[in-house]
Amino acid sequence: MSQTEYIVIRAQEDGVNVIGLTRGNNTKFHHTEKLDDGEVMIAQFTEHTSAMKIRGKAEIHTAHGVIESESKK
Ligand code: TRP
Repeated sequence: MSQTEYIVIRAQEDGVNVIGLTRGNNTKFHHTEKLDDGEVMIAQFTEHTSAMKIRGKAEIHTAHGVIESESKK
């Protein structure tokens, strides 16, 4: 599990939320990390984390390319 790919999230505004969702029958939020402008989070999918939700403006770097999330404003 420690060898799965990493994704990199680079916040492009203050208050970007990286929300981890649980793996298994129930899909629930289990962790929220708040990033300010320019901050970077490097994260993996794990046995506990099956999905991530990004709220706010950020660059998300994955093996599938770079995705830009938009601000909700
Ligand atoms: N305890 C969490 C886990 O092992 C930590 C974590 C990993 C996490 N990847 C994440 C939290 C992505 C939020 C988003 O799964």
